[in-house]
Amino acid sequence: MSFDPLARDFQHNPYPVYDELRSTTPIFYWEPWKIWFFTRYEDVHTLLRDRRLGRTMEHILPPEQRYVPPDAIEPFARLSQHSMFDKEGTEHTRLRGLVHKVFTPKRVESLRGQIETICNQLLDEVIDKGEIEVLNDFAVPLPVNVISELLGVPESDRHLLRPWSNNIVAMYELDHTPEQERLAVQSSIDFADYLRNLANERRAQPQDDLITALVQVEEAGERLTMDELISTCVLLLNAGHEATVNVIGNGLWALLQNPDQMQTLVENPALISTAIEELMRFDTPLQLFRRWVLEDMEHVGYHFKQGDELGFMFGAANRDPARFNQPNSLDVTREDNPHITFGGGVHFCLGAPLARLELQIAFRTLLSRLSNLRLAGDAPEFKDAYVIRGLHDLRLRFDV
Ligand code: HEM
Repeated sequence: MSFDPLARDFQHNPYPVYDELRSTTPIFYWEPWKIWFFTRYEDVHTLLRDRRLGRTMEHILPPEQRYVPPDAIEPFARLSQHSMFDKEGTEHTRLRGLVHKVFTPKRVESLRGQIETICNQLLDEVIDKGEIEVLNDFAVPLPVNVISELLGVPESDRHLLRPWSNNIVAMYELDHTPEQERLAVQSSIDFADYLRNLANERRAQPQDDLITALVQVEEAGERLTMDELISTCVLLLNAGHEATVNVIGNGLWALLQNPDQMQTLVENPALISTAIEELMRFDTPLQLFRRWVLEDMEHVGYHFKQGDELGFMFGAANRDPARFNQPNSLDVTREDNPHITFGGGVHFCLGAPLARLELQIAFRTLLSRLSNLRLAGDAPEFKDAYVIRGLHDLRLRFDV
C-alpha cells in the first residue's frame, strides 16, 4: 500500500492515494503512528457521532493517570486543557453551552457589513496593480481581521495575532520540531497575557464585543473561568483562521483549474452558497481529525480497544463515490452535498455560520471586482504538511 502521510507527493495531492485506499483497504492500521485510519464517508460520518469515542480520554481516567504536561510546555498545554475542543462529556456541554449563548447567529450576521468593508479594503490595496498574491494580500489578513472585529481586539494590536496563532497551531502537525515547540510555548504565554489584560479592561469598561459577552456570560449559575475565557478566544482565532485562509486559496485554485466552473459562478453569483460548500468539499482544508476509543467497541466487524486512536480522513470521505456523484469533479451547482468539512456530532464546528458568511462575501467580492483572473507565473504549490492543507502562495493577474 503506497501510503505515507509524510511523503511530499501525498501531501501535495492526497486524492489519488485516497481513492486507492478507499477501494482496497478502507479501514487500516498504520503502525508508524499507531492509528486506525478511516477513508469512507459512511464510517467517518457515523463514528463522528459515536459517543464511545472522544477527542480526549482524560475525563474517564482516574486522576492519577491523567496527563500532566511537562513543565516546558505547560503554557501551551494549559490553552488546550481549558478549551472545549479538548473536552468531553459534561465539561464539554457546559463550556460549549456558555460560548454558544453569546456566539450567536445574530452576532455573526451583525458582522456582515464589517466583513464586506474588510474585503473591499484589502482589494483596494491591489486593484491598481493588476496583480494579487491571493494568500498574503487577501486570504490571510481577512479572517484575523474578522475574528478581531468579533472579539473586540483593537486595530493597533491585530498584527500580533497571526504570528501567535501560527506558532500555536504548528504544534498540531504530527511531526513538529523542538524549535516549533519553543515558539508555540512562548506564543501561548504572550497571547494569554494579552487576552487576560483585554478581558480585565472589558470587565471594568464593557463594550459591544464578544470578549465583553464572554466576561459577562452566565447560565444556570455557571460562568467561564479566566483560563476558559482565554482558551476560548485562542480557539476562536486558531480554529477560525487557518481553515478559512486555505478554503480561499485552495478554492480559488480549484476554480482556476476548472474554468467552466469559474465561468458558471461568475455568470451566476446566486450560486455562491452552493459553490462555497463545493469548494470546501472538493479540497478540504483540514484533512485529518482524531478520536480516542473510550470503551472497547466494534464497528463494521473491526474491534477496537479502549485507548486506540482513530484517524478520520476528511479529504477521503469528501470524495467517496458511495456518497457523492462524480466526487473528483468540481461542480459549483452541486445540491446534494452533505460534506464533512465542518465535522459532525457534539464537536461540530461552532464557527460554521461565520466561516460560511465570510467565505461567501470573500468569493463574491473577489470575483465581482477582479475579472479574468489568471495565473501570474508557475502553478502554485501546496505546503509540505498533511493536516492543514494549503498553498504557499497564489499569484494572479486580473483585469478590472
Ligand atoms: C472553513 C473554515 C472552518 C473549517 C473547515 C472548520 C472545521 C472544523 C471542524 C472539522 C471542527 C470539528 C473538529 C472535531 O470534530 O474534532 C471544528 C470545530 C470548531 N470550530 Fe471550526 N472550522 C472553520 C471555521 C471556524 C471559525 C470561523 C470558527 C470560529 C470563529 C470556528 C470555531 C470552531 C470551534 C470553537 C470548534 C470546536 C467545537 C467543539 O469542540 O465543540 N471554526 N471546526
